[in-house]
Amino acid sequence: MKILEINYINFRNLDDSNTKFFPNLNLFFGKNGQGKTSLLEAVYFGATGQSFRTAKASEILKYGASKAGVYIVYEDMIGRKTLTVKFVNGKKEYSYNDKKVAYDEFYGKLNVVTYIPEDIILITGSPSVRRTFFDGEIAQTSNEYFQNLKSYNKILKIRNRYLKEQKTQSPEFSVYEEQFIYYGARVIAARLEYVSKISIILNLNYRKLFDDKKELNLVYSSDIGDLKKMSVEEIESLLKERIKKRFSMEKRYGFSLCGPQKDDFLFVLNGHEAKSTASQGEKKSIVFSLKLSEIDMVIRAKRENPVLLIDDISSYFDTNRKNSVLDYLEKRNIQVLLSSTGGLGIDSENFYVESGVIEYGKEIR
Ligand SMILES: Nc1ncnc2c1ncn2[C@@H]1O[C@H](COP(=O)(O)OP(=O)(O)O)[C@@H](O)[C@H]1O
Ligand SMILES: [Mg+2]
Repeated sequence: MKILEINYINFRNLDDSNTKFFPNLNLFFGKNGQGKTSLLEAVYFGATGQSFRTAKASEILKYGASKAGVYIVYEDMIGRKTLTVKFVNGKKEYSYNDKKVAYDEFYGKLNVVTYIPEDIILITGSPSVRRTFFDGEIAQTSNEYFQNLKSYNKILKIRNRYLKEQKTQSPEFSVYEEQFIYYGARVIAARLEYVSKISIILNLNYRKLFDDKKELNLVYSSDIGDLKKMSVEEIESLLKERIKKRFSMEKRYGFSLCGPQKDDFLFVLNGHEAKSTASQGEKKSIVFSLKLSEIDMVIRAKRENPVLLIDDISSYFDTNRKNSVLDYLEKRNIQVLLSSTGGLGIDSENFYVESGVIEYGKEIR
């Protein structure tokens, strides 16, 4: 997939305009505070309906504005397509090929992978950070997962309400219980499958790019048990058993104590959890390997290259490593949009960013 063009209105400090991208490396350079990250954020917003900087969509509104919009033209193997996200009156509206669609029809059409300095939180942050991330990744290539997760979250809310209001004796509770187990097991099964696939790729990427003497694994950690290689039915019965054991406690606490909303994804480097043992440099390398592995996961699932967004590339890599990474991406014909405060000494299409204006073809100073 390649993004051909983006249009934005009232997006942060960007001047309302459009920018055309090239099929390979696009470098956005300029001083700090000029709008480089905002541009990448606008691309991400147009592709996913989300920001990678904030959970509050209203923050992307240009100061003083009440609505904003991003329009993207991209192409995949089939042809030219468009996506629109409008943010009006606190609500988002989505279009695909100029037709209004619901979010679940919009999400995952244009696949993007991002690498931003804040991503280190995927290692250092709480389990919910990792769940949100992996849920988004799995959903971007599996609409079935998107739907199962949505149903699960809905039923989890209802179940929690019943537990809190002590209504577990009511006849409908057992119906909810069945659905809770049904969707919960499917969410867990899909995560397990994703983890088993990406873990292999992750290790290969890490060893190839960073350290061939170490072994990196991604492990799914669930409190319902050791879940290696299990069928959905087996997971269902484990989850059921676990709930039975914990039910009196759940009633006491007034919310659900087991299920995918409690699980975690662990990065394990040479047998030790990276969160507590890896060095700062190793953490960055793990996250970058993860992002490259995501690219492979998208290619496997969709037979399409995702678009890669890299913000502030110089802040993670020395020159050698940076060149080997960019070389690798170029060989694979992946469109990359990257930002930097200075030149990178690479062969790229260059855009100069100043006060929200993006200008193509300027010499890097
Ligand atoms: N909602 C907003 N409306 C207008 N300007 C904003 C908004 N949010 C941030 N800014 C400003 O936009 C400028 C560009 O920010 P950013 O894209 O992060 O710059 P860069 O990545 O080039 O360093 C900053 O000066 C910031 O204060
Ligand atoms: Mg920035």
